[in-house]
Amino acid sequence: MDSAGLDAGYEVLSEYAHGFMVSQVLFAACDLGIFDLLAETPEPLDAATVAARLGTSARGTGPLLDTCVSLKLLTVRTRAGVAVYSNGPLASTYLVSSSPYGQRHMVQYLGSTTYRCWTHLGDAVREGRNQYHRAFGVAADQLFSAIYRTSAERVCFLRGLQEVWAVHGRRLLTAFDLTPFRTVCDLGGGSGALARLCVSLYPACTATVLDIPEVVDTARMEFSRGETEEEEEEEDDRVSFRAGDFFRDPLPEADLFLLARVLHDWTDARCSQLLAGVFRSCRAGGGVLVIEGVLDADGRGPLTTQLFSLNMLVQTEGQERTLAQYTQLLEAAGFRRVAHRHPGGPYHAVLARK
Ligand SMILES: C[S@@+](CC[C@H](N)C(=O)[O-])C[C@H]1O[C@@H](n2cnc3c(N)ncnc32)[C@H](O)[C@@H]1O
Repeated sequence: MDSAGLDAGYEVLSEYAHGFMVSQVLFAACDLGIFDLLAETPEPLDAATVAARLGTSARGTGPLLDTCVSLKLLTVRTRAGVAVYSNGPLASTYLVSSSPYGQRHMVQYLGSTTYRCWTHLGDAVREGRNQYHRAFGVAADQLFSAIYRTSAERVCFLRGLQEVWAVHGRRLLTAFDLTPFRTVCDLGGGSGALARLCVSLYPACTATVLDIPEVVDTARMEFSRGETEEEEEEEDDRVSFRAGDFFRDPLPEADLFLLARVLHDWTDARCSQLLAGVFRSCRAGGGVLVIEGVLDADGRGPLTTQLFSLNMLVQTEGQERTLAQYTQLLEAAGFRRVAHRHPGGPYHAVLARK
């Protein structure tokens, strides 16, 4: 390799090896409350003021702010000879708690739980199993007991998941025309965010969110619904929660089942068991809408989905799959006419009919 090739190669290697530092800048800046502070103050702030308001050191705050500028999270200008900082568009949209598209809990979850599991990626590859025992000292024979090991953890997980739908939910739920489906059951529907979006997009439908009892309790107690009282009442009429175990309990009858980021948690055998139950409870002419990241046919991309799949290794019992693998699982359960849409973003919609 010539010296230009060596330099280019080294640059790529260096970027990969230091990639975790970029993530940590994002995690720390969110965690310290930098973006929220800058959103709350009408004027840009200098580093000394940010440090004083957040109770952080001058030594650490300046370099962190300047690194956020290089990452295009913050903007900087000079006022009376002093650098002052404000949020850039990316931070204002996604990293400020009050933004409708805010992803603060998703970032918090990645920076705490996911990051710790990933420090054991090598062990996960060696052993072929998730790493809750190493990262948190908890047994993972019951996957969601490990995931929900504290109530704070459960709330953060559910909030992080729901934030993603504020960005991607609408285009996934409109990738197919779901108007014909009047009763919808969102299996493993978590906080109910996707079900609420579904009834708002399809005014004639009602939705049942089925999830395990502690999640249903959390969803009822912790998650706000419509923005006004009327919206809340209307949603309460059209979105109901049901506590249950989708592997063991009979599923409610429905025209359409939603399975969003559920199948990727489980082995093929568990997915087949779940889909067989869905098929039994699905009305004739109904269907199932699977929302997941989908791997390329040869499994060699896209990179984001490959990384999601490794994440499934360190955090679940499952994996990301190709469209052919989803089709096979759906057809083996009895579903037909499998159709696929990728409306952009990391998730795809796969609709199959009974
Ligand atoms: C990865 S989360 C996806 C949540 C939601 N569908 C979303 O995409 O935001 C998986 C969901 O399945 C639920 N779940 C796991 N095991 C379950 C079971 N045996 N019965 C019912 N729900 C279950 C979890 O509580 C969680 O809400």
